[in-house]
Amino acid sequence: MVKLLGISGSLRRGSYNSALLSAATRLVPPETTLEVASIRGIPLYDADVEAQGIPPAVAVLKDAVVAAAGVLLVTPEYNNSIPGVFKNAIDWLSRPASDARRVFGARPFAVIGASPGGFGTTLAQAAWLPVLRTLGAQFWAGGRLPVSRAGSVFDEAGNLKDAAVEAQLKQFLAGYAAFVRRASA
Ligand SMILES: Cc1cc2nc3c(=O)[nH]c(=O)nc-3n(C[C@H](O)[C@H](O)[C@H](O)COP(=O)(O)O)c2cc1C
Repeated sequence: MVKLLGISGSLRRGSYNSALLSAATRLVPPETTLEVASIRGIPLYDADVEAQGIPPAVAVLKDAVVAAAGVLLVTPEYNNSIPGVFKNAIDWLSRPASDARRVFGARPFAVIGASPGGFGTTLAQAAWLPVLRTLGAQFWAGGRLPVSRAGSVFDEAGNLKDAAVEAQLKQFLAGYAAFVRRASA
């Protein structure tokens, strides 16, 4: 069994990225699970707060990452880059620095994302690359999934209604899960 963890970088109730992650949980290949973790409750990074201990919401997310064989980041795009709330969460996960290797070291990550615009988070996805490299994670580059025009891809309830995107997501997950399986062997 390949155990994956997905994290959406949006806190919005009607988030397209959370909807994309939710769809992904149903489209993983056989012998694969995709659990959903949340960045909700993670405070703004403050070294003075860290000096008093890792906040509980951060510790919970770190444990979830460590328990997973691979992590799927589902990223919105803000101003052609990573949204601050999402980057803030990953920054917290990298603390203390002495623990970053346990959380990220050689762990296979992949990135997808959805946007109502025409470019489907390609720049935000690219912006994650130097971050993941710095953290020593592995990155699966065998597929790309920039979901554009998200307003017509999901219905009002957040269900994925676009058959082409569904097929692309399924193919992406199959490739990524196979990579994680090889990495964990
Ligand atoms: C501050 C801000 C900046 C944004 N910049 C971009 C952008 O550069 N590219 C883009 O495609 N969408 C941009 N958007 C629109 C987001 O893609 C849109 O709000 C999307 O719904 C966010 O993802 P979510 O639905 O998962 O919350 C921006 C939105 C905000 C609030």
